[in-house]
Formats: sequence, C-alpha cells, structure tokens
Amino acid sequence: MSNKPTALVTSGPTLERIDPVRFISNFSSGKQGYAIAAALQSEGFEVTLISGPVNISAPSGVKLVKVESAEEMLSASVSVLPVDVAVCAAAVCDFKPAEALQQKFKKQNAATEITIRFIQNPDILKTISNHKYRPKIVVGFAAETENLLENAKQKLLSKGCDIVIANDVSDGKVFGHDNNNISVVMHHAVEEVGNVSKEEVAFQIVNKISKLLKNRI
Ligand code: CTP
Repeated sequence: MSNKPTALVTSGPTLERIDPVRFISNFSSGKQGYAIAAALQSEGFEVTLISGPVNISAPSGVKLVKVESAEEMLSASVSVLPVDVAVCAAAVCDFKPAEALQQKFKKQNAATEITIRFIQNPDILKTISNHKYRPKIVVGFAAETENLLENAKQKLLSKGCDIVIANDVSDGKVFGHDNNNISVVMHHAVEEVGNVSKEEVAFQIVNKISKLLKNRI
C-alpha cells in the first residue's frame, strides 16, 4: 500500500438511455475534471478519475473508470471510498427516463407527438458528502446561468461541501471551451479567480485543497 494521499474526481457528462439507440445527455466535454485529475496527480495524489463519455484521454498515471449513467457514476464513486479528497466536476444529468426501452422505439407506434417521463437521478456529490467514509475535503461545482455566488453559497451548504467552484455557464461560455470563469466559494471566504484556462482553474483548486488538508492533519 502506498501512503500517498488519495483523490477521486468525477468528470464529463452522464448519458441516460431512452432506448438502445437514443439517449439524453449534456454538452460537458470533461476538460475541467480531467485537468483537475492531472493537477492532483502532479501534486502527489493517487487519483481515480470516474468519467462519463468524453473524447479526451486520461492524464497518465491516473486510474480511469469509464461509466455511462449517473447510477453507474454513483456506484463507481462510492466503491472508491474512503479517499482523502473528492472533487465532483461531472455534469450529472439530474433526470433520467423513467424507463429505458429494451427495443428501439418505432415511430409508427406513436402519434405525431410523444411524451417521455423523467425521474430524478441520485445526487453523487451529496451522497459522498454524507457518506460514513466522507473524504476530508469535498469539492463541488455550481454551474449557474444566473445569481452565481448566491446559488454557489446555497450549494456549499445544501450539498455539504468544503469548497464550491462557482462556474458561470451562461451564453455557452464554458461547455467545450478551454477557459472557465470561476470563483472559489468556501465557508470562510469567497475568492474570485476570473476567466482563466481550465488548467489554471485546476491548479488553483488543488492549491486550495492542499491548504485545507494541511490545516486538518
Ligand atoms: N452533482 C452530482 N450529482 C447530481 C447532480 C449534481 O454529483 N445528480 C454535482 C455536480 O457534479 C456538481 C454539483 O453537484 O459538483 C452541482 O451541480 P449543478 O449541476 O450545478 O447543480 P444541481 O445539483 O444539478 O442543481 P441545479 O441543476 O438545480 O442547479
């Protein structure tokens, strides 16, 4: 057993199946989570990266676990606990189809309009924060299109995090892009980082994590 500190990072979108050929997902590229995994690895962490479907390669030295749905991401994440640090950067689909059809849905079976019923997915971040093996530091993101800081502070409390990265995703500014406009929201302070590269965001987050960890050991 190595005595390196350990970290788990969730990243990318989740994909929720409607039938064998159709799904619902979102525009997350996974770039931010992958950059965080790389930064934690360079800082000396043993990192498990739990990723939804993306088109980028895992940073070398990081253990990659590929998943598809939110349910799969949740069980993969919980099975990695205990870890010292968890960073939930995934854009988890909040809802999934109430039932995934086993056969392709044929349009002749429907009228000109159809309705799909969606049910809520589990909240992975909240589950990790409230787990009996809660990591020492839990970091979440708040992807917001309005009332950024207010909503991020609310998420810090409701999700039981130590840090929330407030992320302005209005006007398609973030998904697929190389930059991110963020503020770091903690219980004792809010620090504005501004519009910087996703690598720089990762570096800043890992810096904050290391400082908080040192104060707790
Ligand atoms: N998250 C999660 N599991 C979910 C939904 C969100 O782990 N089912 C995590 C995300 O990875 C992120 C944080 O929760 O770290 C906030 O995600 P966000 O999409 O901003 O908020 P939601 O909780 O989905 O709430 P809302 O969409 O209403 O703002």
